[in-house]
Amino acid sequence: MKLDFRTDMSTLHSLLLVILPFYTESLIFPRQDEGPLIAVLDFKATRMDIFDPSEGGNATVIEAINLKGGRGGGSTGIDFNYRGKMIFWTDLYTRDVYSLKADGGDQEQKVILEGGLGSPEGLAYDWIHNNLYVSDWELHKVFVINPATGARKTLLIDVHHVRDIEVDPRTGWLYWISGWEDTALLMKSTLDGQNQVVISSDIERPISLSLDYDEQKLYWTETYTVNLIKSISVNGEDLTIVHRPGRHYEFSPKGITVSRDYFYWIQALTFRVLGREKNNSREITRYRNLEKYGRWDIQKNIFMGILAIDPRKQAESPSLCGDNNGGCSHFCLPSLIQSIPPYNCACPDGMNLMDDNTTCSDEIQI
Ligand SMILES: *[C@@H]1O[C@H](CO)[C@@H](O)[C@H](O)[C@H]1NC(C)=O
Ligand SMILES: *[C@@H]1O[C@H](CO)[C@@H](O)[C@H](O)[C@H]1NC(C)=O
Ligand SMILES: *[C@@H]1O[C@H](CO)[C@@H](O)[C@H](O)[C@H]1NC(C)=O
Repeated sequence: MKLDFRTDMSTLHSLLLVILPFYTESLIFPRQDEGPLIAVLDFKATRMDIFDPSEGGNATVIEAINLKGGRGGGSTGIDFNYRGKMIFWTDLYTRDVYSLKADGGDQEQKVILEGGLGSPEGLAYDWIHNNLYVSDWELHKVFVINPATGARKTLLIDVHHVRDIEVDPRTGWLYWISGWEDTALLMKSTLDGQNQVVISSDIERPISLSLDYDEQKLYWTETYTVNLIKSISVNGEDLTIVHRPGRHYEFSPKGITVSRDYFYWIQALTFRVLGREKNNSREITRYRNLEKYGRWDIQKNIFMGILAIDPRKQAESPSLCGDNNGGCSHFCLPSLIQSIPPYNCACPDGMNLMDDNTTCSDEIQI
């Protein structure tokens, strides 16, 4: 059963009333004891397809969702909130940030952040402190967003052509790739944007970044003409080329996602969805039923997001902000874990932090 969001609401409601009793399990979010599902955004970001990679190369799409907004921009920015049963994504045409809540058979899509973004290519969700990080290639900035209210704070500025971000709220680090060729960098900072560290400058044409939470390694794609997938430990050790395409059709890797023993990526030249074991096995799985996006137009910079929806990635851990948002009126951003307190209160753009270091106000304090 596919729910088309262009269906008018009354039809949708009567439809839901009929099917709900038989349709309470979400198809998008696997149970804790199940393997990951993979979500793929088509190159226009108008549709999200979900498949089960354990079915191998003949895996079929188990759920196809028409996305609000999408009018042909594509996107690599996609992440999820397992506890809240939500998916977040960005759209490079509308330049907005969206959410989909899929609890049981009920689905609801929303615009979380509208306007003010340039090219929001990267998105990462901190499931412990409930902050959404969005990187903007055009504005050279990283923003932090409250997914419930849409409040936004500019966290990092002058991050030259930042392409993608990842977040690990359990270790307290935000990771990103930025720049191109001579200026390309893989970096990290604490979740409040402080304590910036270069992890590697041995990087040329980065497009998409994925964190392997189990092994604490970062995987990223380097697109045409480099055409490689590389990994490195979060401390900058063991830089490894994990995939070098053997054939022409494997060129131009774009979106990447890591889960358990595998990594999955999009080969943008022919819109292939591919998977490979992390431990260097030679075999590549090609998910043929996902190849219905047409051919790549070499003139266009096409982005397709891919995301492993894996409950194991979002293990629970105590919040550094406690259960009262650190006493902060707006953002509570974790800082270095050994600092006291281990967080800073922060304000949405246009508001100021008062002398109590916790309250934000429109007023300017003298
Ligand atoms: C996938 O489907 C093709 C064609 O139906 C079949 O020849 C092939 O054996 C299948 N592969 C697997 C791994 O089941
Ligand atoms: C990689 O790991 C899988 C299981 O995780 C195993 O079956 C396979 O033999 C391993 N391959 C290599 C080359 O070590
Ligand atoms: C607020 O933070 C500043 C700078 O860290 C510090 O000097 C000041 O004592 C803090 N104020 C309060 C009320 O905690």
